[in-house]
Amino acid sequence: MILPIIAYGDPVLRKTAIEITKTYTGLEKLIDDMYETMEKAKGVGLAAPQVNKAIRLFVIDSTRMYDEEKVNEGVREVFINPQMIKELGKEWPYEEGCLSIPGIREDVFRKDTIVIQYQDRNFKSHEKEFKGLTARVIQHEYDHIQGKLFIDHLKPLKKSLLKGRLDKISKGIVDVEYKMKFPKA
Ligand code: NI
Repeated sequence: MILPIIAYGDPVLRKTAIEITKTYTGLEKLIDDMYETMEKAKGVGLAAPQVNKAIRLFVIDSTRMYDEEKVNEGVREVFINPQMIKELGKEWPYEEGCLSIPGIREDVFRKDTIVIQYQDRNFKSHEKEFKGLTARVIQHEYDHIQGKLFIDHLKPLKKSLLKGRLDKISKGIVDVEYKMKFPKA
């Protein structure tokens, strides 16, 4: 089932999401729905707060960010209760966007390599290192469950220049091809 994606301006995107347990009601279906919703919107990551659930869960599929011959460098994975252990390496810029902030793309600087602890959809624990574009997607989604958005990484001047467009997004005055829920519509 495709879920509406929560637009910029909704308080759920600003909450620090909470951990869940195996007994969380409807978890399997939620994960499947999040994948379906992300794919329909042509996203590479989707965090639970973006579908109105302030829980520590996100899904990613970075495989389509890589060229065909490097597709194995991409990762399709569910992250439950993740904890960022460390971020290391050189900071590099990449133009990010967000399904909750349609139409806006800006360069964000992030470190190249991460080590993250998380549980998969079977609640098996992992501690893994990710690099490059996959690390980038995970960092972006991890921000979401911390109540943070990619625009928060921008310099204040740059962010203030976006204010008008952000207000319009929260009111639903934006061209978007997937289902959204706008807080001020
Ligand atoms: Ni996002």
